[in-house]
Amino acid sequence: MVTQIVRDADRTGTGRTGINLTGARSVSGDVLEVTGLGVEYVTDGDPVRACAEVTFTLRRGEILGVAGESGSGKSTLITALTRLQRPPAVTTAGSIVFHPRDGGPAVDLVAASPKELRALRWTSLSIVLQSAMDALNPVMRLGAQFADALRTHDRSLSRDAAWARAAELLATVGISGDRVRSYPHELSGGMRQRASIALALACRPELVVMDEPTTAVDVVMQRQILAQVLRLRRELGFAVVFVTHDLSLLLELADRIAIMYAGRVVELGTADEIYDDPRHPYTRGLRDSFPPLRAPLRRLTGIPGTPPDLRRPPSGCPFHPRCALRFEGCDTHLPELVDAGGHAVACRLYDAADGGMADVGLPARTADGTEGRAERRIEDGIERRAEHRTEGGAR
Ligand SMILES: Nc1ncnc2c1ncn2[C@@H]1O[C@H](COP(=O)(O)OP(=O)(O)OP(=O)(O)O)[C@@H](O)[C@H]1O
Ligand code: SF4
Ligand SMILES: [Mg+2]
Repeated sequence: MVTQIVRDADRTGTGRTGINLTGARSVSGDVLEVTGLGVEYVTDGDPVRACAEVTFTLRRGEILGVAGESGSGKSTLITALTRLQRPPAVTTAGSIVFHPRDGGPAVDLVAASPKELRALRWTSLSIVLQSAMDALNPVMRLGAQFADALRTHDRSLSRDAAWARAAELLATVGISGDRVRSYPHELSGGMRQRASIALALACRPELVVMDEPTTAVDVVMQRQILAQVLRLRRELGFAVVFVTHDLSLLLELADRIAIMYAGRVVELGTADEIYDDPRHPYTRGLRDSFPPLRAPLRRLTGIPGTPPDLRRPPSGCPFHPRCALRFEGCDTHLPELVDAGGHAVACRLYDAADGGMADVGLPARTADGTEGRAERRIEDGIERRAEHRTEGGAR
């Protein structure tokens, strides 16, 4: 898969030297191709290598979850993808190639100018931040904020029409349209979060990047928001990069999941693969850190130790100080993310060239995988609840 990604990037003719290198129209089924992305924070001492060699693709309409412990580089990745990063963050390597829906030229966001990025924001690419208050202006009514975004990209839209559209958008996330006249502080935290999702969708973007959008709300509201995201995704067809430290949530929501550790993607697979057949010892530790919903209770194992300091990451495999399966050379050899039958993993256990032993005792949680499939049905449950709410009117 990884080599395929690189080949595809080459074929589009896009790269670090500029946008639309070939002038060719994009024909890719992917909306985003991230290749070899590196981001560092420049400090007085050693730089913080917050993202290193991050490579993945995002398909049209797909939800890609990104999970990892605190400090693993998730937010750094999000701000790099949206080009919203500020100093001391610096993109040191790689490309982020965006393929427009209309088949227009592919754009390398890393090399794009501020003007080109402005043209893409809201209409093609939007973001939902972890704190809704960071996204909403506290001194503007909701309607005015929506109208600003809508009219920036459609000058012909009248003020009244923009406010009417704002009310419609709020209704799609279950907020009464008359709330357009409210200020953000007059809404509950969950309403603010949903309003910021509606704002991100205002200009019908092709890609929405969400950084922990449900962290600040209770679990009931979290489920409602996720169900609305799934419903809107189905109706509007946008792709999502959804970042969270909560792997169990992604198992419900995401089509595929990337696991980050120490700024690197260490495993990438479908949600079923990540749950039923996690290959990286870190992914197994994350999965086994939350209780199964439908199986007998068991002792949670967790992950010993703490995440590394990214100013001085461990030599070799960055997970080796915490890995119960490390073997000779893990402290000196950095494993690459390599394809393993469409399921990519960066662990020497799976690298044949490294003397890997893929079957050294990493069984799926259940022999026949039935437990995993049962868990996966949760997503169907969310979809059904979303449909139910749609039929009964959004709340
Ligand atoms: N402005 C900054 N200056 C220096 N280092 C930073 C800065 N912002 C983040 N970092 C470092 O970059 C690394 C990745 O941080 P990031 O915020 O991307 O992690 P995260 O996975 O989003 O964590 P969380 O789950 O806690 O939100 C951490 O080691 C963090 O200390
Ligand atoms: S490469 Fe070695 S230390 Fe790293 S996760 Fe695999 S077995 Fe563990
Ligand atoms: Mg974060």
